[in-house]
Amino acid sequence: MKQKLEELQNKISQTVINSADELEEFRLTYLSRKGILNDLFEEFKTIPNEIKKDVGKLMNAVKQDIQVKFNEASGLFHTTNVKSKSLEYADLSLPAELQNIGGRHPLSIIENEIVSIFNKIGFTITEGPEIEDDWHNFSALNFPENHPARDMQDTFFIDKEIALRTHTSSVQVRLMENQKPPLRAIMPGRVYRNEAVSARANCFFHQVEGIYIDKKVSFADLKQTLYYFVKEMFGEDVKVRFRPSYFPFTEPSAEMDISCLLCKGAGCNVCKYTGWVEILGCGMIDPNVLENCGIDSNEYSGFAFGMGIERIAMLKYDVKDLRTYFTNDVSFLKQFSQL
Ligand code: PHE
Repeated sequence: MKQKLEELQNKISQTVINSADELEEFRLTYLSRKGILNDLFEEFKTIPNEIKKDVGKLMNAVKQDIQVKFNEASGLFHTTNVKSKSLEYADLSLPAELQNIGGRHPLSIIENEIVSIFNKIGFTITEGPEIEDDWHNFSALNFPENHPARDMQDTFFIDKEIALRTHTSSVQVRLMENQKPPLRAIMPGRVYRNEAVSARANCFFHQVEGIYIDKKVSFADLKQTLYYFVKEMFGEDVKVRFRPSYFPFTEPSAEMDISCLLCKGAGCNVCKYTGWVEILGCGMIDPNVLENCGIDSNEYSGFAFGMGIERIAMLKYDVKDLRTYFTNDVSFLKQFSQL
């Protein structure tokens, strides 16, 4: 038996494994249940006791040689049995399995679209805190204390001085305070209002506001900028109109309507049979506001505008109930995942 083992040891040292198939053959020959190693152990049981010690040592050495050879080759060729062998040849012609990776929320899609439209004409993005002090949310924007204009926006107060911001105009104030004109920026973000939740209102929603301040900025600049925005967002055929309005921080102020996307101006229940839907507020920044923020109103003028993202998304996607944006119903959200 000793001689047999020595021959085997020699053979193994000369064996070269060159492929996964050869590796599998090696495994079957030596290591499987019906392989040589097992046979040898069976034979070992039958030899006389006095030579067992010697032969046993050699047996173990051979076993180790086999194992080492096998392990080395396994590192190079990836297979030990028939099952994993099939993995070796991936069938590249098979159709790929689709992974469900989710999609963007419709409000994010619209926000990104608005941001990129304004980016194209040089507006940068500015962000600010959602918990705001009275100065940035109200006083700097020309809302006098105890003035009824503060009731235009029902506010969640944290204490007398601090509240959840009711609009992202607060970020405009921060920008005007911290940077010198010319300024051209938009402010996307979440805002909060103490309103009863319904199909048309929620206690929080999202806005994009914008400002442009430079020498000799006029209402014509405001109009052209917003015309450009509407054409990019809703298409060439959409009509625009401005109605006079009031905001404490702009003078003159206006609200902008677009022709109803659904009925194209003919009248339907979305536009309440007027043919028009309101999409944003805007105006020339009140000189008081510029002065409050340290900008010389004799030298500079500017315009501001603000719109609700939910509203734009409702018009664009024909969503009837604002609450659907926040209930995370997958069948609703899925509709947007390819956009
Ligand atoms: N801040 C206003 C609002 O939240 C929108 C607005 C912004 C109006 C800028 C005019 C100018 O309703």
